Amino acid sequence: MMQKVAVIGAGVSGLTSIKACLDEGLEPTCFESSHDIGGLWRFKEKPEPGRANIYQSVVINSSKEMIAFSDLPPPAELPNNMHHSEVLLYLRLYAQTFNLLQHIHFQMTVVCVRQTADFAATGQWEVETESREGQREIHVFAAVMVCTGHFTQPHLPLKDFPGIESFEGRHFHSWDYRSAEGLQGKRVVVIGIGNSGGDIAVDISRVAEKVYLSTRSGAWVVGRVGPGGFPGDLGMSRMDMIIHNLFPSWISRMVEKKLNEAFCHKLYGLKPKHGFFAQIPVVNDDLPARIITGRVKVKPNVNEFRGSSVVFVDGSIIDKVDVVVFATGFNYSFPFLPAALQVKCGYRLHLYKHVFPPSLTRHTLAVVGFVHGLGAIGPLAEMQARWATRVFKGLMTLPSEETMMKEMHEETETMHQRFVCSERNPLQVDYIPYLDSLAGPVGVRPNILWLFLKDPRLALQVLLGPCTPYQYRLSGPGQWAGARQAILTQWERVLQPFRTRVVPEPEPSSYQSIVVVAFSGAALLCCFCVNKWPLSSFVCPPSFFRSPQ
Ligand SMILES: Cc1cc2nc3c(=O)[nH]c(=O)nc-3n(C[C@H](O)[C@H](O)[C@H](O)COP(=O)(O)OP(=O)(O)OC[C@H]3O[C@@H](n4cnc5c(N)ncnc54)[C@H](O)[C@@H]3O)c2cc1C
Ligand SMILES: *[C@@H]1O[C@H](CO)[C@@H](O)[C@H](O)[C@H]1NC(C)=O
Ligand SMILES: *[C@@H]1O[C@H](CO)[C@@H](O)[C@H](O)[C@H]1NC(C)=O
Repeated sequence: MMQKVAVIGAGVSGLTSIKACLDEGLEPTCFESSHDIGGLWRFKEKPEPGRANIYQSVVINSSKEMIAFSDLPPPAELPNNMHHSEVLLYLRLYAQTFNLLQHIHFQMTVVCVRQTADFAATGQWEVETESREGQREIHVFAAVMVCTGHFTQPHLPLKDFPGIESFEGRHFHSWDYRSAEGLQGKRVVVIGIGNSGGDIAVDISRVAEKVYLSTRSGAWVVGRVGPGGFPGDLGMSRMDMIIHNLFPSWISRMVEKKLNEAFCHKLYGLKPKHGFFAQIPVVNDDLPARIITGRVKVKPNVNEFRGSSVVFVDGSIIDKVDVVVFATGFNYSFPFLPAALQVKCGYRLHLYKHVFPPSLTRHTLAVVGFVHGLGAIGPLAEMQARWATRVFKGLMTLPSEETMMKEMHEETETMHQRFVCSERNPLQVDYIPYLDSLAGPVGVRPNILWLFLKDPRLALQVLLGPCTPYQYRLSGPGQWAGARQAILTQWERVLQPFRTRVVPEPEPSSYQSIVVVAFSGAALLCCFCVNKWPLSSFVCPPSFFRSPQ
């Protein structure tokens, strides 16, 4: 029997949830309140309340191979760190390839989701929608997937900033920021150094008189441009994770040392108290250059506002400030869900593995995309959706409520220890371990030992290469015949966009080839023993020691 599933939202999470339903033979109906797909990645000239909004300069902080869905490698010619408009193109390609659009009802807002009277027996939900014309309708579904995004409400902690109510300049949240237009020659203070704060400070500093970037705790700054010019995030392999788990503090120190070689975080006033892995780093290639040219000045926390002046905790004062941008993060809510499901446990939502509310007697409601890791959301949301749809179908049962609660508390404890957790990053997960923890039960976690016996070349890429999402399509439910090829050709797609000017190279003599082979072997060994960071970048690009054709 076809089971009807409601998918709320058609962003990254909603699209992949529709796809997961189709793969499992479920019948998805997606309700999207706007007129188009893409969610956050659909740029809006004017911020739309209740939705994620981005600024014009947003470029993905993970590279295309890492943000991809597991069965649709991004076109080779797309740049590695795509502009937001190119991310939207990729999402359109995904929707087209898998015929997702026909399942989406646009301009339909879900206003209420409640259990049916016979929920205990059927696990069914009533989903109430409102059309653009204000027409309400109630539909019954066997299951619901909530994919409404968590960058939707600006978090504006004004009470922490005495004097802001009488501040003479303009102030707004990063959610409202579109571009530096109108800020020419202004004096601007940006508060908060998350990814948005860093981006916006850099953006504005190109036209403003001066930008002051205020940060309470500092941050580690990593570039998109990694060793050798390859995308930095491709340096994260399963092997790296294993080594990291064995020697966490040593690896942390190694990474910090590497980052300080690019620029000394202490010298630049950015050094945080916490280690590299204790918080998701800021991805920004331009910030150090803006600081060295004096266009951005790093400041400590703001103590108070006085007229048009900003007073920092170290006693320093900046006068005649025109604009303050609060890059202080986001909040989220599910106004349409029953109150009992909105209860938070401590600072995070009551959700088993960030997906299922443990208290329900029937597990027919899943939240998708409400996690945050040192990696892209696409693969995370996709794996959650694959797991959730199999739970809906009864192919998998969840542990008892008691066990789930216990696991949730333990996991929260661990995360507290691992990360400098604050109210503002409650959704943090360890990227690969989290993916694997869902892939295990689904039956799609790559078995590397077995792979080494069967297909050593592939196994080497899976273990030492970047942990790209195609790894989760090699076997098990949802297996994709193209997955192996996608992995073996991933470096080709990374290299392709760089081939804009052919650089001629002399033919190597056979003697040279031997030297190159010997050298690469030695380099490999060195990376392994001495310097873990660029390990995968050295092992993996097939043409790193050869010239690309
Ligand atoms: C500035 C910025 C940069 C980012 N950069 C990256 C990055 O480089 N890499 C990365 O992995 N992540 C990044 N993120 C995180 C981002 O959240 C995810 O990439 C992703 O877009 C989240 O997708 P989503 O589908 O979960 O939510 P969204 O994209 O927010 O989509 C939610 C959809 O649900 C719809 N909706 C909401 N409520 C309702 C309702 N009641 N009824 C019907 N429809 C509804 C909305 O209209 C929207 O279309 C960034 C976030 C920000 C703010
Ligand atoms: C976040 O939103 C919830 C629900 O809307 C609200 O109760 C809470 O106070 C908000 N938290 C912050 C930090 O703004
Ligand atoms: C990219 O930026 C978004 C938004 O700030 C953040 O949620 C995500 O964790 C970042 N990803 C990485 C890999 O840093």
